[in-house]
Amino acid sequence: MSRSGGSRRDDGSDGNDGSDGSFGAYGGQYVPEALMPAVSELADAYERYVRDGADGFPDDLRDRLREFGGRPTPIQHAERLSERHDCEVYLKREDLLHGGAHKLNNALGQVLLAQYMGKERIVAETGAGQHGTATAMAAAHLGMDCEIYMGRRDIDRQRPNVFRMRLNGAEVTPVDAGRGTLKEAISETMRDWATTVETTHYVIGSVVGPHPFPAMVRDFQAIISEEARRQLRERVGRLPSSVVACAGGGSNTMGSFQEFIDDDVALYAVEAGGSSLGVDEKRGVAPNSASLATGSEGVLHGARTKLLQDGDGQVAESHSVSSGLDYAGVGPELAHLVEEGRVIPTTVDDDAALEGFHRLSRTEGIIPALETAHAVAWLERATPDQLGECVLLTVSGRGDKDLESVVEETERREIEQAPAMDVFERGSGEQP
Ligand SMILES: Cc1ncc(COP(=O)(O)O)c(C=O)c1O
Repeated sequence: MSRSGGSRRDDGSDGNDGSDGSFGAYGGQYVPEALMPAVSELADAYERYVRDGADGFPDDLRDRLREFGGRPTPIQHAERLSERHDCEVYLKREDLLHGGAHKLNNALGQVLLAQYMGKERIVAETGAGQHGTATAMAAAHLGMDCEIYMGRRDIDRQRPNVFRMRLNGAEVTPVDAGRGTLKEAISETMRDWATTVETTHYVIGSVVGPHPFPAMVRDFQAIISEEARRQLRERVGRLPSSVVACAGGGSNTMGSFQEFIDDDVALYAVEAGGSSLGVDEKRGVAPNSASLATGSEGVLHGARTKLLQDGDGQVAESHSVSSGLDYAGVGPELAHLVEEGRVIPTTVDDDAALEGFHRLSRTEGIIPALETAHAVAWLERATPDQLGECVLLTVSGRGDKDLESVVEETERREIEQAPAMDVFERGSGEQP
């Protein structure tokens, strides 16, 4: 096992921008020797094409994001939400990006980078299926072979996305280990990559993993806040008082926060509170995915970060009603920004997230992903001081993939704003 990163840079400053893989005490490259050549080659390619812009890579990516992806996505004033919370709420509509989620920003960036590196094959993991879908689409667009690893449990929860990946020509390989969710899918994809590095690039789906992934994925997702900053300035002539975004691994949050980090803007990362906070030490289970709010320092998937773990350092099984947030770790940069007090972690439980889902659907005509619904739900709990006068909330994805699980989960609970559930019974065409 190699370990690097977390050191001071040659110029004597802390390498907190991730250019050397460290974010304060977090980050690094904790990977088996077999993976070192792959991560080093990738770190070089990241420097060359993404940071230094060699061979016109940034322009190529920008053109493809526009033509294939549909960027820029709009910001939209949410009238009912603004009235309800007595402030101006603007939505950054990443749900309108091709594929229905912010994930394409990163997937297209990495698949294109793999092509510039001369790779022929793409592997990726997926939780909610949104990253897998985005990667399969990007691979088809660029004519590359693609294999997606997905936990068995997530395959059952996110069937529409499995169909979409297959339609785009990707192979979807089920992972049966553990609870059959994102953590196991990432481990399996890393195993594949370790033996196929010469021909294959691993498109990781969030700001997690060994350097250069956290910095690189952040850079690809930063387009969310780059656009939103410009759009808000043009539209209302100001910056937001606060930015609210849901956090699983943290790519939506890092992308939504990046261009506001040096400004006087409050940044809220909303995690999945699941059914309750804390870790059940005996069973090694956390009925939540709140690693920023409640986790402790450890190493997972190649980086030092904040994790849900028991007293012996065993990584706990996480839980969330939304599979895209169901992960025991979080990006190292986000962990660092929370530790510095720059980003404020908050949590929303499963019930509140379902309420958020129904509220946005009913009052604004936008059916959000269950992940996004956590951010919407947090507005209910926030104080006027926390939100300020102008809130920017990123709608990280659309909810089509979640319809079956939302109906099932809503039926089991009393959810404010939900329609009568009998309308969804098979064969029932009648309105209640
Ligand atoms: C729509 C949506 N939002 C948010 C997330 C959470 O991931 P991340 O924290 O990397 O943005 C996911 C993950 O699949 C997602 O599909």
